[in-house]
Amino acid sequence: MTDDEATHPAAELLMTSEEIRRRVRELGVQLSAAFGAGGPPPLLVGVLNGSLPFLSDLARNLTIDVEIDFMAISSYGGGVGQSGVVRIVKDLDADVGGREVVIVEDIVDTGLTLNYLKRSLGERAPRSLSAVTLLDKTARRLVPVPVEYRGFEVPDVFVVGYGLDFQGLYRNIPDVYGIKDVARLAAEPRFLLGSLYQPHPS
Ligand code: PRP
Repeated sequence: MTDDEATHPAAELLMTSEEIRRRVRELGVQLSAAFGAGGPPPLLVGVLNGSLPFLSDLARNLTIDVEIDFMAISSYGGGVGQSGVVRIVKDLDADVGGREVVIVEDIVDTGLTLNYLKRSLGERAPRSLSAVTLLDKTARRLVPVPVEYRGFEVPDVFVVGYGLDFQGLYRNIPDVYGIKDVARLAAEPRFLLGSLYQPHPS
């Protein structure tokens, strides 16, 4: 058993903040080379709420000028769910017509959210439309939506941290953890708070 497993018997460290930092820097290089060759600055569309840490770090690793806007979507029942029926809770302020648009997600799981967003934004005549996600859980995909840029493939485990939450908790952990005891988390949502928030070395 490693120290980490001893410290977090119900959670597995999947990506450290340092691994995330390095990968986000690489994505920044990749996106900077792919976009911004003339025309208006590309528009990064953050999907609230989970994309916030990733969007913030990614934007600061770009060497091109970008604009940033946000969307929030929801199904009538909470998550997007298997129906894929969603409503826009907060729409973009920006007009995407003729723009290079990059949807920024923390995770693509079933693909229903990204599929909806691509259809919806695609109808607004952007010059280009692509997506970057920190995590890609391809094993759970229900719709085959293209994901142009991704940080990490993750296994089919419930993940928290770096934007990903459980009932609004754990979102601001700097690392990404896979939850090994989901049943206990469902019964006691706060039970990992004491172990996953580690003090930072000064
Ligand atoms: C998460 C994530 C994506 C979506 C992906 O959002 O941020 O938007 O789920 O799942 P899918 O591929 O199965 O559609 P969530 O609904 O949990 O909201 P949040 O970002 O506010 O936590």
